[in-house]
Amino acid sequence: MSGEGPAKPMHALKSGPLSGTALVPGDKSISHRALIFGAMSRGLTRVTGLLEGQDVLDTAKAMRAFGAGVTRHGQGDWSVEGVGVGGFTEPDDVIDCGNSGTGVRLIMGTMATTAMTATFTGDASLRKRPMGRVTDPLSLFGTRAYGRQGGRLPMTVVGAGQARGIRYALPVASAQVKSAILLAGLNAAGETVVIEREPTRDHSERMLLGFGATLHVEKTAEGHVITLQGRPELRARSVAVPRDPSSAAFPTCAALIVEGSDILVPGVSQNLTRNGLYITLAEMGANIDFLNPREEGGEPVADLRVRFSGAMRGIEVPAERAPSMIDEYPILAVVAAFSEGKTVMRGIRELRVKESDRIDAMARGLEACGVRVEEEEDMLSVHGMGAGGMPGGAVARTHLDHRIAMSFLVAGLASRAPIGVDDAAPIATSFPIFETLMTGLGAELRQGRPD
Ligand code: S3P
Repeated sequence: MSGEGPAKPMHALKSGPLSGTALVPGDKSISHRALIFGAMSRGLTRVTGLLEGQDVLDTAKAMRAFGAGVTRHGQGDWSVEGVGVGGFTEPDDVIDCGNSGTGVRLIMGTMATTAMTATFTGDASLRKRPMGRVTDPLSLFGTRAYGRQGGRLPMTVVGAGQARGIRYALPVASAQVKSAILLAGLNAAGETVVIEREPTRDHSERMLLGFGATLHVEKTAEGHVITLQGRPELRARSVAVPRDPSSAAFPTCAALIVEGSDILVPGVSQNLTRNGLYITLAEMGANIDFLNPREEGGEPVADLRVRFSGAMRGIEVPAERAPSMIDEYPILAVVAAFSEGKTVMRGIRELRVKESDRIDAMARGLEACGVRVEEEEDMLSVHGMGAGGMPGGAVARTHLDHRIAMSFLVAGLASRAPIGVDDAAPIATSFPIFETLMTGLGAELRQGRPD
């Protein structure tokens, strides 16, 4: 079952200047989708630059369980022999999505409108997360779901055989929910319409168009109205996965806070639905040059030259920016602690239902490191201590959350005393080369807890 191996404590020591080039792995969101859309197409989809993190490997395994042929040819080089829309076969065992909310929610959408039953589970973190946000709209297609209390995994989903398209306004800004509905809409007759008040990452829409679906996005007073025509024939294609801006955030922010650093982070997405952190850092006075803007794998990208920025200032991060940087608040909270003045992050309630309650995990960890914070249901504020000002000298609890682990390890590269994390193992879900990449830049990371 869900592979929860032994915890892997790790710590970070105050480091000398970081230098060199940080080649971060492929985008996690796009990697999941490349495998899923490949599986729903006819023909052979070739994927290059696929993130080989555990989350994506679990999705690859799930696509095999539903009948697609998924083959690894080399590092990041994969192919998917698709079965076509509605062509899935019923899996003969439980689908284990490990730590991945994106994996389980998108895959539930994918099988929700085929006449079959599948049971899903995941690790201790995923089993705490709400699935009702996906199964409620899927029930409008006729899909039934039986989970634990509060709509938690393990959960059995009974797909609807003869579904018709639905119209659904998203109550929360969530690309996972939007994508699950669009994926279900593929095998439903007629149109499926999803309305999102605040735009969230648009990789599913871009990929649906790329695989040959008919989809329109209209900007109205209600928000983005996305209309998908059901029962298309999706055609296999090649997908070059761009690098992950959410992973790039870690070396970028490390260079901003470690004195004397000067690094290059190539191919960082400038997709407006993903680049909120980079806009925020610029407003705080971060020294980042956006070089060589171009397109890679269908995404606008730039190479980032990032230099130590000793005089960053705290800001009020606009609440409406949250969807475009939803995974970056933990590392932003670290940068805020090394800035002057207070940083206020509002409209971030969604952080409470990520791999961990990220508001709580960051607040407790930063407090343990000697930083003053304030926390509300929907808000976190951090009182900056300036460059080099964070005392550190604590071990943060990570609650099986890769981004909490990476955030505190980055903090420890610039704090006065070392910072540890109780478990760095979950980093492998999204950024398996984190330790090698960071130490290659000069970061002092060590196994075990600090002395
Ligand atoms: C993702 C959407 C976001 C994000 C997650 C990846 C996706 O979740 O936090 O890491 O690939 O669609 P929500 O849709 O729940 O905000």
